[in-house]
Amino acid sequence: MSTHFISRPKRNMNASIYALAGLLSLVLCLQSAAAQAQKADSSAPQIVSTSCYMCHTANGNTLDLAFIPRLSAQNQSYIEAQLKAFRDGSLSDPAATIYMWPIAQGLSDAQIQQAAAWFASQSAPTPFPPGSSAAEGRDISMHGIVKADIPSCDSCHGAKAEGSGIFPRLAGQNAQYLIAQMRYFRLGLRNENNSEVMKRIGLQMTDAQISAVAEYLSSL
Ligand code: HEC
Ligand code: HEC
Repeated sequence: MSTHFISRPKRNMNASIYALAGLLSLVLCLQSAAAQAQKADSSAPQIVSTSCYMCHTANGNTLDLAFIPRLSAQNQSYIEAQLKAFRDGSLSDPAATIYMWPIAQGLSDAQIQQAAAWFASQSAPTPFPPGSSAAEGRDISMHGIVKADIPSCDSCHGAKAEGSGIFPRLAGQNAQYLIAQMRYFRLGLRNENNSEVMKRIGLQMTDAQISAVAEYLSSL
């Protein structure tokens, strides 16, 4: 109980920092939206060409803005679940509320299914070069952290972090995005179905361990 009491002001402060960072990056995003405008893909479903490509690109694979996740080769069922969680508000970190809520609220189940099927069928994203703590991160991903009672990431996310079903693909994802999500889990801002296990893991990992594993995963 005392932990909840102590952590509350910190949580609010962190949330407003993220919100500010989000607002600043919105400007960046809109600028790159203009730059990417020529890259709409005519074979993509209409919902992707009208509502998703300007931030995620049509194949979901690039843009390299750290706070925008890569969607290419992500599991279809996971993408669908996340879009529904943005739509029902259970996924409520600052980046989600600023960028994805307004879009998800207008999506029908059929549009969610079309967008998810499209991004899931795109080629896996190009890996990032491994950062300096990627070797430590590999150890965490393969063996977990015994002292903190954290199972290996591979045991749920797959040996190559390729994901399946409810377990998202993490391979080739932007490290800064992965780090942000671990913090959001830890802060209790991701309350969608299936988020319980990651909230516990987020609370038990140090910032250094989170960075290391994110560097490793982004390099796969
Ligand atoms: C204005 C920019 C913007 C647009 C347009 C946009 N997104 Fe996003 N999307 C984001 C950001 C930023 C995030 C990260 C949110 C977070 O950190 O919680 C995100 C997250 C997601 C996620 C969660 C991925 C994961 O790994 O959990 C999915 C799925 C997604 N978007 C799908 C879509 C689809 C489908 C569309 C079009 C219908 C779309 N997005 C349009 C910016 C955008
Ligand atoms: C017991 C199973 C399990 C283990 C072990 C596990 N995860 Fe997860 N992870 C999940 C599930 C389930 C989700 C989807 C949560 C949701 O839908 O909110 C997830 C989601 C995530 C996400 C969000 C990805 C995105 O695109 O938004 C990250 C990041 C993540 N896990 C990292 C890790 C790391 C790093 C480890 C190892 C230290 C790990 N996970 C271990 C089950 C697990």
